[in-house]
Order: sequence, then structure tokens, then C-alpha cells
Amino acid sequence: MWQDLDIAVKKTAPEKRKEKPPQDALGFGDHFTDHMFLMKWNKENGWHDARICPYGNFSMDPAAMVYHYGQAIFEGLKAYKGDDGQIYMFRPEDNLERMNSSALRMCMPRLPVDNVLKGLKALVYLDRDWIPTVDGATLYIRPTMIGVEPALGVRPSSEYYFFIIMSPVGAYYAEGFSPTKIWVTDKYVRAVKGGVGHVKTAGNYAASIMAAEEAHKAGYTQVLWLDAIERKYVEEVGTSNIFFKIGDDLITPPLGGSILGGITRDSVIELAKSWGINVLERRISIDEVTAACEDGSLQEVFGTGTAAVISPVGELCYQEKKYTIAGGATGELSKKLFEELQAIQNGKTADPFKWITRIG
Ligand code: COI
Repeated sequence: MWQDLDIAVKKTAPEKRKEKPPQDALGFGDHFTDHMFLMKWNKENGWHDARICPYGNFSMDPAAMVYHYGQAIFEGLKAYKGDDGQIYMFRPEDNLERMNSSALRMCMPRLPVDNVLKGLKALVYLDRDWIPTVDGATLYIRPTMIGVEPALGVRPSSEYYFFIIMSPVGAYYAEGFSPTKIWVTDKYVRAVKGGVGHVKTAGNYAASIMAAEEAHKAGYTQVLWLDAIERKYVEEVGTSNIFFKIGDDLITPPLGGSILGGITRDSVIELAKSWGINVLERRISIDEVTAACEDGSLQEVFGTGTAAVISPVGELCYQEKKYTIAGGATGELSKKLFEELQAIQNGKTADPFKWITRIG
């Protein structure tokens, strides 16, 4: 049982280790480290067979339930190598706790957070040479849980895999930290309250792809979703939460069940409040945003996410009308938040919120 879960370690033979990609051309999620963490769950044994092993394929029955009914949840977090040579992770317990909330909603088993954290730290330490050291590049960590019982009845799987893979990454968007262009859709919706919009489950992302493809074709980086009922209130961007600086206020939509409770979102709220900024978690309509853009009070818009970090928005397109934000440049607050978050994550500055876990 997981209370006394032992983690076996089988290292990749030196001659089978992969060549590391150049750090200045990593892209996002295209390369994977030499090892992964894997453990299994069934009704008889709970979580068992925990191991760190060479990165490699699974062999799964084509009837495995994840392939059919999408019982799949995941997380995204990062490891950093500081100038002091230390390895840091940002709020890993919060990611694992969020995964447990996702598991609850998707009728999947709860993770033993302390044990998984132990395995995660051991995995990051083992593959520490994969953590990029160039500015803006990090090691992205993807914990994932899937239902693997071979069965076609629609019900919770009775068997699961939990695994962690890791990928050295550069910026998520091709724009890097330069402003992105966002397409506001009132044609498609992402989630409704009572559904799974607040859950980090694969289906939310699958359902978003068509709108993102249309946005890309129109020359936009991402989609901004509106609420599914009135198609009026701002929800989130495809891969991040969203913030608006209007006058002296920093406004972000509230967590009401249809948007993801981002850990970067929460960190930005805490940081901005600590700087004396008036942060408001409240509903904001797209009409309020466009009106503020037109009257000049909309100073900045930015997305927040683990992959995206802080991603400034330079243009919104809504109902075929283009709205340029901050003259299309990166705003002061976006820059300050980006720099401060990065400095905390890299161990370069004090960590008053106790967000950092040091490894090794
Ligand atoms: C993350 O920011 O970690 C995410 O999971 C978003 C992902 C779609 C890249």
C-alpha cells in the first residue's frame, strides 16, 4: 500500500542515454529526459510498484479505458537550476494537491502526495543534467494519471497508471516574452459550471483545439474563451489564466468552477497584492475590456500559466475588430511580475511566500 511505498530505481545504461538538445532551440515539449517515474493502482493493492525507470513506451491493451472515455488528468510544473548550482521546484505540493482535486472529480484514485513528491525529487535529481541553464529555459515536468483497465463499459477504471515525464523547454509561445495576439471566440465555448472546466483533464484540451486552429489560421496565437451561457464574461486563455490592468486595478475572472485554478495565477495575485496593487477577482465582460481599451484605461493584459509563465497580450480580436493593448508592447507590470517570478523560481531572490522546494 502507498503508506509504505518503496521506490525502486533502474537507471538508463550510460550508452543508452540520449544526446541533449541545444539549449537555445528547445521549443516546448519536443525532447524528453532519460528517466521517468511510474506507479500503478488497482483495487487490491492501491498504489504499488513505484519505480524510476528508463524513459520508454508503455504496452497497453487497445481497450484501455483512457483511449475510449478519456479518464486522463495531468499537471505541469517546472524545475530550475539557480546560479548557485542548486535545483529548485516551484510549489510542487500545490500541483499534486490540485491533481488530487482533479482525481476526485474524474473518479480516479487519490495520490499519496508525500510519496509522489519523494519520487519526483529523486527523478529530477537523477536527470539534473537535463535542467537547462540558459535564460528562459527550464525543465518542464508532466505528472499524468490514466485509467488503464481494458473494458468498454462507461464507469471508473479499476486500474490506473501514474507517471511523470520531463522535458527541457524554452518559451511556450514562439513569441517568447514578446506580446501575443489573442482571438476572442464567441463561436465555441470551453466549459460550463458543473462540468470539468476547473479540472486539468485531457478532454478540456482536446475540445479546445478546433478554436485554436481557427485562431492560428487568422494569425492569432491563442483563444480567449467567454462564459458558455451568455458568451459575455471572460474566462481564460487556451493555456493560461488571464489578467487585465484597468486603471489602478488588476482584474482576473473568479474561480467559479468553469476555469482552471492556476498556480501561477495564484502566485501573481499574491505577488501583486504584496506590492500594494488592488487585485480584484471578479467577473469582467468582454464589453468592459473593449470599452476600457477604447477609453485608454486598459493598460495591460497578460496570461499566466506554468508553461506560459507571464505572457503579455498585445492585441485582442473580438467580432472582427482589433484592439491594440499598450501600443502592442510589453507592459511594465507584466515585465515586473515576470522578472520577480523568475527570480524567485531560480532562487535569485528571497522567497517570502515559501513557494520554492530545494532539491539535492
Ligand atoms: C501548463 O501550463 O503547465 C499547462 O499544462 C498548459 C499546457 C497546455 C501546456
